[in-house]
Amino acid sequence: MSEIREEALGFAEPEESVPLREPERQYYFMDRMRSLVAEKERELGRKLTMHVATFGCQMNAKDSEKLCGILSYIGYEETESEDADFVLYNTCTVRENANTRVYGRIGYLGACKKKHPGMRIALCGCMMQEKHVVEKLKKSYRFVDIVFGTHNIYELAELMYEREQTGKPVFRILEETKQVVEELPAVQKYAFKAGVNIMYGCNNFCSYCIVPYVRGRERSREAADIVKEVERLTANGVKEIMLLGQNVNSYGKTLAEPVSFAELLHRVSLVPGLRRLRFMTPHPKDLSDELIAEIAANETVCRHIHLPLQSGSSRVLQRMNRHYTKEQYLALVDRIRSRIPDVAITTDIIVGFPGEIEEDFQDTLSVVEQAGFLSAYTFLYSKRTGTPAAAMEDQVPAEVANERFQRLLQTVNRVASEQAEKAVGKTEEVLIEERNPENGLLTGRLSNGMLVHFPGDASRIGAIADVKLNECRGFYYLGTLVS
Ligand code: SAH
Ligand code: SF4
Ligand code: F3S
Repeated sequence: MSEIREEALGFAEPEESVPLREPERQYYFMDRMRSLVAEKERELGRKLTMHVATFGCQMNAKDSEKLCGILSYIGYEETESEDADFVLYNTCTVRENANTRVYGRIGYLGACKKKHPGMRIALCGCMMQEKHVVEKLKKSYRFVDIVFGTHNIYELAELMYEREQTGKPVFRILEETKQVVEELPAVQKYAFKAGVNIMYGCNNFCSYCIVPYVRGRERSREAADIVKEVERLTANGVKEIMLLGQNVNSYGKTLAEPVSFAELLHRVSLVPGLRRLRFMTPHPKDLSDELIAEIAANETVCRHIHLPLQSGSSRVLQRMNRHYTKEQYLALVDRIRSRIPDVAITTDIIVGFPGEIEEDFQDTLSVVEQAGFLSAYTFLYSKRTGTPAAAMEDQVPAEVANERFQRLLQTVNRVASEQAEKAVGKTEEVLIEERNPENGLLTGRLSNGMLVHFPGDASRIGAIADVKLNECRGFYYLGTLVS
């Protein structure tokens, strides 16, 4: 999408030569930065390095691939070390601990910069959309060079150039955006699998969740653009695609010509060369029968549905603004299992939501037993400023929540290993992803998302192969390569 930009530049640049349209404008700044970096390389007699750290979810990781693409184009070489010439933290604020981790690490970067004054430190992502965070950075972390949010990651090169031209820190955080600039370089973390955004933002306002405030309103990409991106990826050897959105079930509802998520899944699955298609995350409140039928009939779609439960208590679910009851969730699981018998269902659960009493927690345990999750991410409720739940009175004391959390983990682990055991002895198709540095074995992922470790040659990484599952070790299998 392109849009005309109207504000004046904040630094000296021949205005008439700066394109107003995107993505041309960003290519202009990427080229300017490329010259500056080349100059610096000559001066130092070495390549400049960059380090991008991702703190959040798959969508955050996808943003990091775009940011790395811009930095590579400019001429930076990626390094594992945080003591790099350009360090970028792509932050997350979904829970308080994600947030605290970031502050600790920025402090460490400040120490690196003292020894290495040419270093540039940039922060972006969800945490930067919070006003109190930006205030704290301005006041107590003055060595930070560039701060931007979730709506303008495509502007990285422009902001870097502004920093160099003005010699001052650059803060640019937008409240909202209508425009999404897609046509910029991106670096793929893996050659054989990739995530593709199908929508941005979220409109659900679950009462505990900060995502709608930091990611803005829901916006779907055109189906044709998504298909084109997947075609380009598979033409480059990608075999597995994950479609990404905060609530994929509401994909396409606001497009000029509405397209349902099931229809999109179907269209994408037809892209030549695509072997596996995944998606993340559907909301249980509106997972349609059309979608279940599409997954059942479509062999390219992986046998895995991540279906966040959050709580098993209908009373708590209502206070969470989730729009389903315990019974409706369980009925949905039954519908899915009856039509897609080999599907794995995984989930997210929050413990200690305000007002949760032992009886509510027992409901959560009972849903875990009945739904037979193959795995579950369990979280302690974290109070997020500005969300409705943060203002609820009856916050659960930490020791009570911790104790429930431990009990939940025990149940989840038992149920998950019972489910995983069922596949022992079977031969399953896997996508071989990497070599495990610890045990030297190859790691492959099953259609249902589980991992299997097995002996084999690293030349097979990126291939799809059959592996016999010999033994289950809880979160993964040990196996042998069959073909
Ligand atoms: N859009 C997805 C998930 C987004 S965040 C969905 O609706 O399922 C990922 C997970 O973080 C959520 O599923 C939830 O379990 C957890 N989470 C979100 N806000 C939280 C909070 N305030 N405290 C604890 N966990 C939270
Ligand atoms: Fe947060 Fe709910 Fe949106 Fe998921 S659906 S991102 S939990 S508000
Ligand atoms: Fe975190 Fe933002 Fe994702 S808050 S979970 S990185 S959308």
